[in-house]
Amino acid sequence: MTIDRPLSLIAELTYRCPLRCPYCSNPLNYGDNQYRQELSTDDWLRVIQQASDLGVLQLGLTGGEPLLRKDLELLVAAAAKAELYTTLITAATLLTPERAIQLRDAGLDHVQISIQDSRAAESDYIAGTPSFQQKLEAARLVKTLGFPLTLNFVLHRQNLDRIDEILELCEVLKADRVELANTQYYGWAYRNRTVLLPTRQQLERADAAVALARERNICPMGILYVLPDYYEDYPKPCMGGWGNRALVVAPNGDVLPCQAASSIPELEFANVRNHSLDWIWFESSAFNRFRGTEWMPEPCQSCDRRQLDFGGCRCQALLLTNNAAATDPVCHLSPDHHLITTVTKQANQENLDSPLPLVYRSMQM
Ligand code: SF4
Ligand code: FES
Repeated sequence: MTIDRPLSLIAELTYRCPLRCPYCSNPLNYGDNQYRQELSTDDWLRVIQQASDLGVLQLGLTGGEPLLRKDLELLVAAAAKAELYTTLITAATLLTPERAIQLRDAGLDHVQISIQDSRAAESDYIAGTPSFQQKLEAARLVKTLGFPLTLNFVLHRQNLDRIDEILELCEVLKADRVELANTQYYGWAYRNRTVLLPTRQQLERADAAVALARERNICPMGILYVLPDYYEDYPKPCMGGWGNRALVVAPNGDVLPCQAASSIPELEFANVRNHSLDWIWFESSAFNRFRGTEWMPEPCQSCDRRQLDFGGCRCQALLLTNNAAATDPVCHLSPDHHLITTVTKQANQENLDSPLPLVYRSMQM
């Protein structure tokens, strides 16, 4: 099997974060000692050079909150020198004018800011801390400094009814690109699934609002709108396929094929402290475990779509069926599809006015 070179490196610089979003993609055990041993500046500089040598074109600097790393400017400068396109993926509450100027001068290409809702109280409620006003100020700062700005909203049952306001806010803040990502239900989001899973009616209204905003061309680089898996007939090719396009480096240096892969107990992850990215990408057992199509069970093995969606998401399959090698239950051909339909049926019967309490991202979990 031919293995292509990766396009992107997702650098999770730290799992520390001032926010406590209940759909965070960081592992449930992010507070464990193993993740407190963050890579040093020299480790990251080596990883960035190795990524460039491997053919990576894009570097996402994320977390947690990447601005908590004091060496962020150094890492950006190294990435710029290695000709990687850099995106800072941030909650933005720590983006001061001084820091933003330093990052621009270091060669940062693009800033993505997450906002939790169109209104202050609702946004702060999901973030678990007051942050909305700081985010708006940061978005304006990013535009003033001439960066392309992406605004990212994670959509769910609690904010989908304000999709028009969310799109309006994107227009007011002059976002160049908008990412409307419906929540993916693993990790923290799975804990909060009952509170976050939308109704079909909410999604239909959102579809119409997004179509209208696209017609009006509210942002020059477009609106990415990702439907929730649970309401689709087929799964998405998670990460563009396992070990196919991207590498994720966790704060402790473990290299993962996706941001949730550490939830799969059978996998052992190689670490950048001991191995080169090149070896990890081509040779490591974790990257090869679900690469391509040979590992697939039926019905995927004989399905025409197996090269399109790669059998869906391994982390979701594990979470729902206890078997990471199962067909993703989101697929209507999966023998486990009832695990999805039971939940969506329930979500469409529940009263929106009486939500359960959220379980916030916290070290105590
Ligand atoms: Fe994709 Fe497997 Fe479903 Fe076919 S059976 S559509 S390959 S998940
Ligand atoms: Fe891990 Fe989808 S999140 S494969």
